[in-house]
Amino acid sequence: MTEPVTGDPVPAGVLRPHAEQEYAGELARLAEHDDRPRPPGWRLSPWAVTTYLLGGELPGGTVITPKYVGRRRLMEVAVATLATDRALLLLGVPGTAKTWVAEHLAAAISGDSTLLVQGTAGTAEEAIRYGWNYARLLAEGPSEKALVESPLMRAMRLGSVARIEELTRMPSDVQDALITVLSEKTLPVPELSTEVQARKGFTVIATANDRDRGVNELSSALRRRFNTVVLPLPDTVEDEVDIVARRVDRIGASLELPQAPAGLEEIRRVVTVFRELRSGLTSDGRTKLKSPSATLGTAEAISVITSGLALAAHFGDGVLRAADVAGGIVGAVVQDPVSDRVVWQEYLEAVVRDRPEWRDFYRACREVS
Ligand SMILES: Nc1ncnc2c1ncn2[C@@H]1O[C@H](COP(=O)(O)OP(=O)(O)O)[C@@H](O)[C@H]1O
Ligand SMILES: [Mg+2]
Repeated sequence: MTEPVTGDPVPAGVLRPHAEQEYAGELARLAEHDDRPRPPGWRLSPWAVTTYLLGGELPGGTVITPKYVGRRRLMEVAVATLATDRALLLLGVPGTAKTWVAEHLAAAISGDSTLLVQGTAGTAEEAIRYGWNYARLLAEGPSEKALVESPLMRAMRLGSVARIEELTRMPSDVQDALITVLSEKTLPVPELSTEVQARKGFTVIATANDRDRGVNELSSALRRRFNTVVLPLPDTVEDEVDIVARRVDRIGASLELPQAPAGLEEIRRVVTVFRELRSGLTSDGRTKLKSPSATLGTAEAISVITSGLALAAHFGDGVLRAADVAGGIVGAVVQDPVSDRVVWQEYLEAVVRDRPEWRDFYRACREVS
């Protein structure tokens, strides 16, 4: 087995390279080996896109690292959807890799993950359609040059994937601006008596948060234009530890933290605590627990471990220990200073204290609680 391929050199000093930059090497290797049919406008075949997401080994020994850890079928359904004329909606609770998967899909299919609209309560229609450069508009009147295209319009013109983050946080009338685009594949510009017709390869990947349900319900007209793929929380502790370990490794390297190996034992402990609290049951199935208000997803576990590594590297002896993660865990669990604190104290005294191999952790948590 040869070394995994890393990306092309990323522009110096860039804090967070886009997926297509960071994994340029892998994407190029995949394209070389990809002799299957590519849908019009796609850089890779659906098979190669799926391999990019799930990882694998190419003839000649090139290793493609897994980006998404989970059921293959989910990614196959997502990729197959994008090869039709339907858009893709990734749905799930926070931290289930919706944004992450959307970015990697766009990178693999279009070679560009940056055509992105962020949905918030304040997202205006211009973010979906187009706006105007007002200085030009006043000076010259409406013209092609005065038009400021949205990421969506640009994606239509280029035949690329457009991403919409947190679709259901946008006001409903703004969401509805998408209907024409998705059904007619065109964006009219009445001011110029013209339109932008989408080129082949254009599609939309939207993400939405389960917890936002009811904020701005997705209209049924819009829902019909999307195929929905629900991303689940990791099935097992092992899967989740694997995801956290991979991400932490990568993040640590990109932050150039002094080398401090993330002990799998410590990762497993953080993951176990989060899984037990969010499911309301200890892992042996014996004790019922109260769940805190906080989201204790994979993403939170990743950030607790990363902060712990920084503590260990800069202020400790370079080895991740219970004391380095205790503060982060308590901070993640106790979001509401009153109710969550009660939940945490109960967990600490009823569960953590009784585990002989968790003694160091119990002590460290007592100190910061
Ligand atoms: N199943 C998974 N496979 C790979 N990475 C995952 C998985 N679940 C979560 N992650 C990691 O969790 C982090 C947060 O994911 P993110 O895409 O921001 O979540 P969401 O958008 O669903 O709230 C990402 O860094 C991602 O690597
Ligand atoms: Mg997200």
